[in-house]
Amino acid sequence: MPSIAIIGAQWGDEGKGKITDFLSGSADFVVRFQGGDNAGHTIHSKGVKYALHLLPSGVIRDDIMNVLGNGMVINPESLIEELNTLKALGRHPQIAISNRAHVIMPYHLMRDQASEDTQNIGTTLKGIGPAYQDKAARVGLRMGTFVDKDLFAAYLKTYYPYVKGASTETPEALIRRYAPIIDALKPFVQDTSVLLSEAIKKDAKVVFEGAQGTMLDIEQGTYPYVTSSSPTAAGIPLGAGVAPKHVQKVLGIVKAYNSRVGEGPFVSEMPEKDAHIIREKANEYGTTTGRPRRIGYLDLVALKHAHRVNHFDAFAITLFDVLSGFESLHLVTGYRLNGTVIDYVPAERETLQACEPVIETLPGFDEDISGLTDWNALPDHARQYLQRIETLTGVPVGMVSVGPDRRQTILMTRIF
Ligand code: IMP
Repeated sequence: MPSIAIIGAQWGDEGKGKITDFLSGSADFVVRFQGGDNAGHTIHSKGVKYALHLLPSGVIRDDIMNVLGNGMVINPESLIEELNTLKALGRHPQIAISNRAHVIMPYHLMRDQASEDTQNIGTTLKGIGPAYQDKAARVGLRMGTFVDKDLFAAYLKTYYPYVKGASTETPEALIRRYAPIIDALKPFVQDTSVLLSEAIKKDAKVVFEGAQGTMLDIEQGTYPYVTSSSPTAAGIPLGAGVAPKHVQKVLGIVKAYNSRVGEGPFVSEMPEKDAHIIREKANEYGTTTGRPRRIGYLDLVALKHAHRVNHFDAFAITLFDVLSGFESLHLVTGYRLNGTVIDYVPAERETLQACEPVIETLPGFDEDISGLTDWNALPDHARQYLQRIETLTGVPVGMVSVGPDRRQTILMTRIF
C-alpha cells in the first residue's frame, strides 16, 4: 500500500494543510491520528479559503475518504460546525470517525482554562489536555459510547462526578444538548482501524496528516510547553490503528523560518523588527486563536532533532516566498550553552532557556519567487539557502512551496 506521512518538523503551523491537499490529489484516504480542534489547517483552492481544525485536509475533494482516527480528541459541536461550513461552501465530504476517539465535552474546556490560570502553557483552550488526561486516567468518554444514547447516559452516571471539574451543567442537560449532535454524527462512527486495514489490503493510497509539530510532541517536544499528543511519525500507528510498517514515507514539513505560539523557550527567536515584517507579510497569527505568533530564524538544531525522531525521507519547505526582500538570511546551526556549542535540544526547559543561538548568515534574495514552479528558476541565493539546509541536516528538499495556492509549488522529485 502506498502511504505517506505529513509531519510538522517544527512547532506547528508549518503549512501542512497545503501540502496534504497538494499530495492528496491522488489519495484514497486522508487520516488524522492525533490532536483535535487545536489545529488550524488553511487550504486555498479555486479562490476559496478553507480553514480546517478537526477535519482532515482531504475534505475539500469529494472523492477522498477522511478518517478521524482513534488518537484524536473530538469536540462534537466543533465538528458539526465545521461540516456545516463545508456544506455551505458546496462541499460534501466523506468522513469516518473512530469509535475509539475520545470526546471533548464542555467541562474539558473549563478545566483547560482552570489549569492555564496556574500553569500558563499558552494552550488553545480547546480542552485538549484535559480530554487526554481523562483518556490516560481511564475515565474518558469515547465516540462509540457517546453516540449510543443509553451508553452515554450510563457513562455520565458513573464518571461525571470525577470528570466534570467546576461544571454545574447537569447530566440531563448534557444529554439534551447533545441529542441532535449524536443523531447527526452516529452514521459516521465506526472501527476505522478495520476500515483502514481493509483498504490497505486493496492497495489504497493513504496520506497520514499530522497536526501541530514535532517540537510540540508530548514525548519529544519542549516539555511542558507541548500539546498532549504525539504529532511525530511514531504517533501514526497508535493513533490511526495501523501497523507501523504501513507508514512507508515520512515527509517533514518545514517553514522556511520558525514560528511558535504559546509560551516556552524559543532559542532562535529573531529581533522584533524583522519578526514584525514576517508576521505581517505571512499573516503569522494563530488560525485557531488569532494570537500573534513568535517568529525566529530557521533552527537547524531543532530540525535535526525532528529528523532523528521521525527519519524524514524529504523536506517540504513552505512559505519560502516570505523570505524574499531580506538583505541576509540566517540559520541557527548550534546552541551556545555555558560557553560550549552543542548540537542537540536539551530536555530541561531551564537548560534550553539558557541556550543562545549560534547563527550562520547567508546572502538574501530580492526577487519575487511566488510565481516559480521550477527549481532552476530560483535565484542563486535562494537555492544556496535550501542547499545549506540539506547539507546541515542530511535531508533532501523534495518540494518548495512559494505561495498558498496548489499551483505555487516547486516539485523536485515525485513524492507520492
Ligand atoms: P493545546 O494543544 O491546546 O493543549 O496547547 C498546547 C501548546 O501547543 C500551546 O503552546 C499551543 O499554542 C500549541 N499548539 C496547539 N495546537 C497548535 C497548532 O495547531 N499550531 C501551533 N501550535 C499549537
